[in-house]
Amino acid sequence: MGSAFPDPWLRLYALKANGLPPLISELPGLGYGAGAVSGGELTLAGRAGFPVAQTALEGIGKTPADLRRAVALAAAGTPLLWISLESAHEAAALAGLVRAARGRRGVDPTLRLDCLVRLNPAVRPETQHGLAVGAGGSKFGVLAAELEGVIAAGGGPDGPLRWRGIHVHVGSQLGAVDAWRAGFRAGLSALRLRRAALPDFDTLDAGSGFPVTTNDSPTPAHFARAAAEALAEPGADRPLRLAVEPGRAVVARSGWLLARVLHVREREPRQVVLDAGMGELIRPALYGAVHPMAALTVRGRPVTDPRPGAAAVRVDGPICESTDTFGEARLPPVRRGDLVVIGHAGAYASAMASTYNGRPRPPEIAWDGERVVLLRRRGSAEALP
Ligand SMILES: Cc1ncc(COP(=O)(O)O)c(C=O)c1O
Repeated sequence: MGSAFPDPWLRLYALKANGLPPLISELPGLGYGAGAVSGGELTLAGRAGFPVAQTALEGIGKTPADLRRAVALAAAGTPLLWISLESAHEAAALAGLVRAARGRRGVDPTLRLDCLVRLNPAVRPETQHGLAVGAGGSKFGVLAAELEGVIAAGGGPDGPLRWRGIHVHVGSQLGAVDAWRAGFRAGLSALRLRRAALPDFDTLDAGSGFPVTTNDSPTPAHFARAAAEALAEPGADRPLRLAVEPGRAVVARSGWLLARVLHVREREPRQVVLDAGMGELIRPALYGAVHPMAALTVRGRPVTDPRPGAAAVRVDGPICESTDTFGEARLPPVRRGDLVVIGHAGAYASAMASTYNGRPRPPEIAWDGERVVLLRRRGSAEALP
């Protein structure tokens, strides 16, 4: 990521992809800040060693407690990098909290919080419907025509919120760079229009969307080139700060979900039911995400299907929901007890896990190059709700 978006680009790791501190604690040392979407993720960021000053708070689900925490950090002299606001109501609520904090003993009476506005660029992201958060009808961010209202609700140019710029996230797992480039342009144009009225409006956070697939898909370098093209267009000013916030592209390839075959049914296509499913990796069931799969020997080596042109089998999970499936894969003939591995499971797998059907979480184990390290213990039946 650092080679496509080198300094002075800010690279904020999206903690939602995987917040396990033992895994992500390498990232601050590799030049990443963090993007958190809740107070819980702020805590995870701190545990993993991300400095507060390089941690942004964003997301549509910020609670009043999350906003109070952001204000408390700033009041204590350790402000977050910025807070990305999703609506005029949220801006008004945060501004009210800052005004209240200003009256307290020991708090700077001129306290202000650095904020971005999340812009919905109303583009057509080249991804699954469920990941197309930059489409005009999505629940995320405000439309360009609503930006003024957010700034006014947060107290205007000189109020308790210091307006620092625009945040855009077009969607995840993008199959092309066009919507991302259009979102980037929309961000630049929103900045340009307000620069005169807002002296500190100098930041464009271009979000993410960098895909991880097994086929030809754009790399972070392709997106960086799209940004450079947009910045080179006539009339485009380069913002003082530019940021990206990758999640999947940083951690997806670091994880594999290991499962055993429970059932094989000779149907059309053949059905292979595993002992892992949407409880451990919900993305295929949730929005049709595609993950690579392979059968393994007992020593963990992939087995390829020896039969030329062998048909794909359907790989399902063990949960009592018919959408609990990983989709189709070309697997060799497998039997009950055989191992199957699902790739790209380092992102949005354990982070989205559930114990539905009374299934305790599996352990998470890492190989650090020399030894096997336990990242998270197996859950227990006693701890189930
Ligand atoms: C605002 C925002 N930024 C960054 C990301 C990370 O996206 P990805 O994991 O596709 O890199 C997301 C994912 O949902 C997001 O909502």
